[in-house]
Amino acid sequence: DALQQQLDDLQDFQVIAHRGASGHAPEQTLPALELAQEMGVDYLELDIQMTADGELVAFHDVTVDRATDGEGELKDLTLEELKALDAGSWFNEAYPAFADDAYAGVEVLTLGEVIEHFGNDARYYLETKSPELYPGIEEAMVEELEAHGLIEDGLVVIQSFSQESLLAVRELNDQVPLVQLVWYYPEDDGEQLVEWTGVTPGPQEISDADFQAIRDYAVGIGTNLTYEDELQVIDAGFVEQAQANDLLVHVYTINEQDDMQMLLDWGVDGIFTDFPDRLNALVE
Ligand code: G3P
Ligand code: CA
Repeated sequence: DALQQQLDDLQDFQVIAHRGASGHAPEQTLPALELAQEMGVDYLELDIQMTADGELVAFHDVTVDRATDGEGELKDLTLEELKALDAGSWFNEAYPAFADDAYAGVEVLTLGEVIEHFGNDARYYLETKSPELYPGIEEAMVEELEAHGLIEDGLVVIQSFSQESLLAVRELNDQVPLVQLVWYYPEDDGEQLVEWTGVTPGPQEISDADFQAIRDYAVGIGTNLTYEDELQVIDAGFVEQAQANDLLVHVYTINEQDDMQMLLDWGVDGIFTDFPDRLNALVE
């Protein structure tokens, strides 16, 4: 069936458009998502949060300050207030080389709008973002996805840094493939690498038992490659050990082709990128 087909397809290398083709157009907006689809990607990656009036929206930061012309916390804004903001002009100012007049004034999208727009023509890699701020976000998300038949059609992966959030999703729907996100970063002494969520120890110390604990509920692990673009935090051995424990390894957020090629050589199962065109050029 479609779900089995999705799992089979996940065994192949996946090009994951991080917030859409967000290197080329404002993240998580229609231009970025449409561009990613035109480039040809396996999944559209979106961060999902919730407005003050309980609407699910595609937005990364907890505050709207960076990626809109507004300010304040997203959770304090109604959908109407969020929709009134300009989610595109900041991109033109920040990235003049990629600026386009059409991006000025684009709106933040609801999850429903994304689904209505792309329907079954896309696959969605949805993150419950900062779920501790949004009690009930898992229920709302699963309900919306089920209402459109997207999970049973094998079109959704759900990811989170929060193990608790992933387990909540699994309670609601045990079919949707889950990916545990981790973020490795150095401790103050710069030596020991520890993990953001507490789900696993650092990559040097991670054991088969730790990987199996994730495998118990997730099909894969989503990890960073570097800390602040400098310190490499995982290596080929980490990827090999995760895969030996039957976990897919998806790596974020990779925008340079030399890094992409290195990860392809390591045999990772997917890459999140703001530039799917660059990755496609290597994969094709
Ligand atoms: O979801 C993978 C990657 O997007 C995690 O980092 O901060 O971009 O959501 P972030
Ligand atoms: Ca994300």
